[in-house]
Amino acid sequence: MKRRQSRFERTAPQRHETFLRHLRIPDDEIASIRARAAAPHQVFNMNKKSGRVMDIFYKIYGGLDRESPGSRAMAARALGMCFGLPDCPAILEPGCGTGGASLDLAELSGGNLLSVDVSQPYLDRLRERAEARGLAEQVTPLKGDMTALDCAPESFDMIWYEGAACIMGVDNALAGWKRFLRPGGFLVFSDAVWLKDPDSGEVPEDMRRFWAGAYPAMRTAEDNVRAGEAAGYTSLGHFSIDGACWDAFYADVERHLHDVERTLGSDPDGRAIIDVTRREIAFYRENPEAYGYEFHVFRK
Ligand SMILES: C[S@@+](CC[C@H](N)C(=O)[O-])C[C@H]1O[C@@H](n2cnc3c(N)ncnc32)[C@H](O)[C@@H]1O
Repeated sequence: MKRRQSRFERTAPQRHETFLRHLRIPDDEIASIRARAAAPHQVFNMNKKSGRVMDIFYKIYGGLDRESPGSRAMAARALGMCFGLPDCPAILEPGCGTGGASLDLAELSGGNLLSVDVSQPYLDRLRERAEARGLAEQVTPLKGDMTALDCAPESFDMIWYEGAACIMGVDNALAGWKRFLRPGGFLVFSDAVWLKDPDSGEVPEDMRRFWAGAYPAMRTAEDNVRAGEAAGYTSLGHFSIDGACWDAFYADVERHLHDVERTLGSDPDGRAIIDVTRREIAFYRENPEAYGYEFHVFRK
């Protein structure tokens, strides 16, 4: 049942909601059924994790160049699809991490970024990196919760949401932040997507199960396009990041895992995070064509 609901929520969120309403289920219960079916933030939302687990995450991921697969070239390609972006755009970047994307984006767009993350150590590292690259004037790190942003209406030319879509879910981001964009403004996000149908038998069962637990709301790029258009945006296109991004990202993660294993390998939480990360890497390497990471560009 749970698997069917997750699939329904993933592939047709609006129809899932209509179906639940048709059953005369109360609104709060619908919200909870949909959250359980999608449930991405239960896994990734740092706000919901204990300080200790956050600390372990930081030790593993805080020293990376990026906390998600991507590159300057991919950012430049997505930016190139945003025709009519003003010079010096105002950009909101929720879930900026240590700023792998922020710094490239500041250089490439010439804009001013409000880079929001819930993790102060990540933001401190972003500040140091921005200073080292002479970008401190352009990048303003802000500690905050992306699910409760309180920005002025229509105050940004662009919202850049790289590698963090799983935290509040694509649909919530599309709906919740639209009001912050100026008319004609751009929403750019990258998200893990299935390149093969996970229920078709083409995806190995252990991999399907892994992602059903880690990111149950993962869907296809076409599903994301439909969701964006249903939320009133125009899709300007989408593309998969190249293999070089994955290789660089996982090589960096592996180096860090090797380093932290000595200090955190015997800690139960540390061990669990290290093991799950190694499994993810192995799954990707065995089946790189089963899922990918997609950049989407939408206009309000
Ligand atoms: C996978 S990382 C991506 C970081 C960065 N965008 C990148 O691509 O390198 C997700 C980021 O979201 C942050 N995060 C998690 N939950 C959050 C929340 N509720 N509000 C703001 N940031 C959050 C984490 O601290 C982490 O830095």
